[in-house]
This record gives sequence, structure tokens and C-alpha cells, in this order.
Amino acid sequence: MDLSNPVPLVALVLNLVLTLFTVKFLTAKLRERQRKNKAKYHPVGGTVLNQLLSFKRLHHYMTDLAGKYRTYRLLSPFRNEIYTSEPDNVEYILKTNFQNYGKGEYNYSLLKGLLGDGIFTVDGDKWRQQRKVSSYEFSTKVLRDFSSVVFRENAAKLATIVSEAANSNEIMDIQDLFMKSTLDSIFKVAFGVELDSMCGSNLEGKEFTVAFDDSSAAILFRYVDIFWKIKRFLNIGSEAKLKKSIEVVDNFVYKLIHNKIEQMRNSKDESSIMKMKKEDILSRFLQVTDTDPTYLRDIILNFIIAGKDTTAATLSWFIYMLCKHPDVQEKVAQQVKEATDMKEVKDYAEFAAILSEEALGKMHYLHAAITETLRLYPAVPVDAKICFSDDTLPDGFSVRKGDMVCYQPYAMGRMKFIWGDDAEEFRPERWLDEDGMFQPESPFKFTAFQAGPRICLGKEFAYRQMKIFSAVLVHCFVFKLSDENKSVTYRTMINLHVDGGLHVRAFHRCQT
Ligand code: HEM
Repeated sequence: MDLSNPVPLVALVLNLVLTLFTVKFLTAKLRERQRKNKAKYHPVGGTVLNQLLSFKRLHHYMTDLAGKYRTYRLLSPFRNEIYTSEPDNVEYILKTNFQNYGKGEYNYSLLKGLLGDGIFTVDGDKWRQQRKVSSYEFSTKVLRDFSSVVFRENAAKLATIVSEAANSNEIMDIQDLFMKSTLDSIFKVAFGVELDSMCGSNLEGKEFTVAFDDSSAAILFRYVDIFWKIKRFLNIGSEAKLKKSIEVVDNFVYKLIHNKIEQMRNSKDESSIMKMKKEDILSRFLQVTDTDPTYLRDIILNFIIAGKDTTAATLSWFIYMLCKHPDVQEKVAQQVKEATDMKEVKDYAEFAAILSEEALGKMHYLHAAITETLRLYPAVPVDAKICFSDDTLPDGFSVRKGDMVCYQPYAMGRMKFIWGDDAEEFRPERWLDEDGMFQPESPFKFTAFQAGPRICLGKEFAYRQMKIFSAVLVHCFVFKLSDENKSVTYRTMINLHVDGGLHVRAFHRCQT
């Protein structure tokens, strides 16, 4: 070879590089094909069209499928949808390979309109930062004490309304009352402001409540409305309404945020600053993070959406279960009586005030009855994650990047392979040991609160609220369904609500 002429040398090197590159590319392709041929996918349970046809009884449909296949696929034109009730798979997606499953761009684009960059919509660093600050705040004694005071006040207020209905033997929709009282509670804890949706005294608050519920429903509608982006662009139909509702929500929330910032800036009185700083979530965030109103709005609206319907729906199913199982209702009442040592209630607020953490801590049977309600009627019946890169689940089946992988608390609560032959029975005793002490289950089997690093942040908060509300109500009243023969079922939406409300009568158990 003539080394004085570099052209052939360059050609040779180029040739070599090209050959190497081609070999590498073909080997990778071959490997990929071999891997794909070896990859096996979960059995097909049906298509999303079947889901749509069974929409009204969606969770029944998915429970039947889960009984046949612990994990199955539904075919969809956009992506595979994988539904699992296998605890090992659940542990894998929620904990072991947590990084590979999240909300993804798809959920973010749908939810962002209302929930912004709040904890429910984001992944990665944005999520980690909010989770860190929020979990610290939720564990503080200050927030625990303040929220307990709020729960006790609202439970007493609710008991007064129930008492009036009992006096006139009126039928009431207890789910509607729970929705209002839990919203009032979380709103007070979040902003330090009385919304009073229970009595409707705050007109601006009423407008906010309607707009907030309307915008949640419209956001949910985006999941089935393939034209939502076009409608948003043209500002027509459901998207035009959504825009208006969000404006109402934002105006109300930003006003509260600006007022609080002003109050904190202007307050000269040291003791009032100290008091103000201690209580609601907004004031506490103003202390530890920057005061960007959009950031604060997103954080707080996410808490409100998280804490409102979940606890209200669970309390409604709990009362439904007590009506269906009067023996359990009596046992709960008996336990509250023993734990509080209060025989006759003179005043609801006075009774609620003695429900200390210590007294609530003694109520293992009540805790078990609420948990058993959540096992059968989990407030979040199905929870979807997006798979970020090709993977293999512990059962040996593959999932692909972009697939939707869901764990399903509703179906899981009814699986015999998880809970035994009496899986479908309501039996609080399954949660108690021989001494009557509550025994938790693996969070990968009892998935009502999710599990792993993104486990529900408000779990303890929710139990405390639900125990205070139910202790007051069950201690003071006996509940019966207004019509024993009317079937009670769920309405298919993100949270498991009782369809059409829960209509009950209450009878005084003890006189005030
Ligand atoms: C019975 C009541 C409740 C149930 C069954 C429940 C259940 C859940 C579930 C299943 C998730 C995961 C949702 C997801 O994938 O994004 C979740 C997340 C969350 N929950 Fe709850 N929840 C309840 C009450 C509450 C309350 C009262 C609060 C706060 C006031 C709260 C705050 C949160 C937050 C902040 C998250 C997001 C956690 C994260 O992504 O890191 N929850 N909850």
C-alpha cells in the first residue's frame, strides 16, 4: 500500500468502521427479535370495548376477569392495558422497580389543567421534592393536633344535623353530608378558613365547591373523550365549561393565598404570627418554601382533592356495611362506649372533644371495621401507572414501554387466593388477633392506600378523621337503610362513590 497517498487508507478505515457498525446493528436486531420471540405477554382478557360495554358495572367485570387470570391484558388501539391482582407484581411495580412506573406524560397532560404541577400529577425530582416537604409537614404534631380539633368540630356539627333528621324521622343522604363535612374539614386544615359547605353560609365558598366538583368531573371526562384537545383549542363544550370552572377555583384559591401572605407580612403582633404560623397547611408551607402562589395553589388543591371524596366515600360505605350488619354496628358502639367511658351524651361537641388519640387508639374493632370496609370498597378502586421501559414482571410475563399497568384494589379485595374462601364477606374480625388487637396486612395485598414510596400520604390523617366521625355518629345514633330492598351499588368514576347517594334513617341511641 502506498502510504504517501492517504485516500485508500481512509477508505479502508471507513470500510472497517462501516462493517463493524453493520455487524453490531444486525446483532442487536437479532437479539431484539430473539428477546421478543422469547417474551411472553399476559393472557388477553378482552378489549377496552368490553370495558366500555360493562362501564356501569366495570369493577364487577374486572373482578370476574381477575378471578380467571391474576394478571391479564385488555387490548386497546393506543396501548396495552395490563391489570394485575398478583401481590408480587404489585410489590414490583410500586416498590422494587418503582423508577420504571409512574404517572407519565399521558396522565400529566390530562390532569395538569386542574391539578397543575401538584404531587398527583408529577414524577421524578418534582415529585420527590414535594413528597419530602409534605411528608415532613404531615408528621408534625402541630398539624395532627390542629386537624384533630377540626375533625371533632365538624363531627359535632354533623351529629347536630343527623339529630335533627332523627327528630323528624327524616330520610337523609348521608353520603352528601359526608362529602360536605370532609370538604369543610380538609379546607380548614389546608387554608385555615371556614368553608361551611355543610350549612352553606359562605356564598363564595359555595361557588368554589360547585366549580371544584364540576372541574374534577370534566377532567375525568377527558379520559374517555378523544376530542378534548380540539374542544380545548376551540374553547367549546365540556372544555369551555372546564375553563370557566377552573377560573372560579383559581380566583378563590389565589385570593386566600394572597390574603394569607399579606396577613403574615403585615402582622406586627408576634404572638399572632406564632399562632398563625402553627396551624393550617398553607401557613406552614409559607414558612418552609418560597411564596410562589402557583406552586402553593398546586400543592394545596392536590391535598383537597386527595382528602375530600376518599374519606367521604369510605365513611358512606362504612355506614352501609353497618346497616347490613347490625351486629357489627352494636360492637362498634359498645367499643366506643368502653373506650370513652361516656354513658350519656349531653352535648355532641363535648363528646367529640374527649376523642383523644389515646381513646381512638383503644378502638381496635372500629379500626378493623373501617379497614374491612376499605378492603371491599376501596376509595380508589383501580390505579394506573405507565411503564417507562420494557420490563419483565415477577410472574415472568413482559410489559412494554408505554403500556399501562394497573393494580386493582377493588378486585384484589375479593380474591380468594389472597383472603381465603370468605373473601367476599364483611368480617372485621379478620384484622384482629386473639387479644382483639388490630393486625395490619401486607400493603401489597391490602392496596387501598397504594404502597411503596408513593403510599398515600394522608393515611393516618384519614383514619383519624374517619374514626372521629364514626365514633361520634355510632355512639349517638343507630343507622338503618331507608329501603332495605333497594340495591346499593357504586358509580363508576375515579373514586368509588355510592351511586345516587346513601339514603338512611337515624335513631337516637342516647339523648342529648
Ligand atoms: C380513605 C381515605 C384515603 C384513601 C383510600 C387514599 C388512597 C390513596 C391512594 C390509592 C393513593 C395513590 C394515588 C395515586 O396513584 O396517585 C393516594 C395518594 C395520596 N394521598 Fe391518599 N387516600 C385517602 C385519604 C387521603 C387524605 C385524607 C389525604 C390528605 C389530606 C391524602 C393524601 C394523599 C396524597 C398527598 C397522595 C399522593 C402521594 C404521592 O404521590 O406521593 N389521602 N391515596
